[in-house]
Amino acid sequence: MTTVYRAAILHALSSEQLEYLPHGELVVDDDGVIVALGNAGGGDAPTGATRVDYGDKLLIPGLVDAHVHLPQIDIIGVASESLLDWLHEYVFPSESDCADPDVARDRARRSFRAMLAAGTTACAAYSSSHTRATEIAFEEADRCGIRAVIGKVLMDRGAPAALLQDSAPALADTAALIDALADAWRPAARGRWSGPTEGRLAVAITPRFALSCSPALLTGAGDLARRTGVHVQTHLAENASELSEVARLFPAQRDYTSVYAHHGLIGARSLLAHCIHLSDAELDHLAGAQATAVHCPDSNFYLHSGRFELARVRERGVSVALGSDVGAGTCHSIVEAMRLANYAQPQQVPPALLFYLATLGGARALGWGDRIGNLAVGKQADFAILEADPPPLRDPEQLSVLLSRLIHKGRSALVHAVYVGGARRYERGVDCA
Ligand code: GUN
Ligand code: ZN
Repeated sequence: MTTVYRAAILHALSSEQLEYLPHGELVVDDDGVIVALGNAGGGDAPTGATRVDYGDKLLIPGLVDAHVHLPQIDIIGVASESLLDWLHEYVFPSESDCADPDVARDRARRSFRAMLAAGTTACAAYSSSHTRATEIAFEEADRCGIRAVIGKVLMDRGAPAALLQDSAPALADTAALIDALADAWRPAARGRWSGPTEGRLAVAITPRFALSCSPALLTGAGDLARRTGVHVQTHLAENASELSEVARLFPAQRDYTSVYAHHGLIGARSLLAHCIHLSDAELDHLAGAQATAVHCPDSNFYLHSGRFELARVRERGVSVALGSDVGAGTCHSIVEAMRLANYAQPQQVPPALLFYLATLGGARALGWGDRIGNLAVGKQADFAILEADPPPLRDPEQLSVLLSRLIHKGRSALVHAVYVGGARRYERGVDCA
């Protein structure tokens, strides 16, 4: 059955251009694909279609969180001096608990639900280094319907033994996850995951960062990336002490980016969290490789990591997406990431750019720009319904006010409902899972 959603509709066509339909209609077919977008009365809605009228609410594309840690949901707000202390004092002990499948499941489930409740329909997520916990993360993502790129964290040094795994078995387990997910997409093999996951779930090869990976592990991860073409996610240049340690451990490499590039880990499917302390040459390398810098402003403020130079990074041609980086980030809201991304810069960031980074920019970073990120005909119907802040909703002249209030009153912007691929996956006050 075709469904027509009525609301004020806002989406990004590019990093500079928004489209606003104050009396919008989004027409979605049975398969959850957008078949029309226009103003009410435009004749796009077939007769007999189901109508869902969201009245004075605002419909936007689902938000994209391009960097989040599932096991860290329970250490949000647990303070340390800086990144490396925080990892050793809190993150590693807490991630060790994910050896227990029940703990891993509970944290993954609550993380995905928190994201959906915040209007996020797609994410790039880190599991722990446990293979079973990572399988469980896929099961939970599938169950709650979110779109997700998920990785088993690769670490063979620099953390407690309980979190370390030698490079050969760690990479074999990652390869097996990639195969299992590919199988789940083949109709004959359906059933390994509990639902039709086609294209909604993907594996990321996930070396945690240079300090937790031996050269052998990085080499193997790069080889696997080359062979499979799947995503790579890691942390790059977050903190000054981290940079000194990287220079000490990899003396043959010119800089931090070269450590990853040397091992084949910088490419068009690489999601590099933070990218705060990078030279122009490193940025040029990332731009040439079409890699994405994932800006996580909440985390950067929280850990006092330094300032991500948004204008400089973009001017050098590097693509940018936004991440919550929970648990260094303090909440799962990408609306909040937009707001803080503005505060992190010396000048106002155009609201349209922030909105683009949170939606289409994030989708492109995940390699899904042709499928999601805005409401173009032919894309999957991933969208969030927000309580808009009146009065300017129906006046196109007031778009900049509407958008600015959406971003800056983010904490109170109420998410009313969330759809992924045309299926309602969250509604305030209703358990959709
Ligand atoms: N660098 C390596 N691991 C982590 C992590 O879990 N969080 C953050 N913010 N930085 C990291
Ligand atoms: Zn992180």
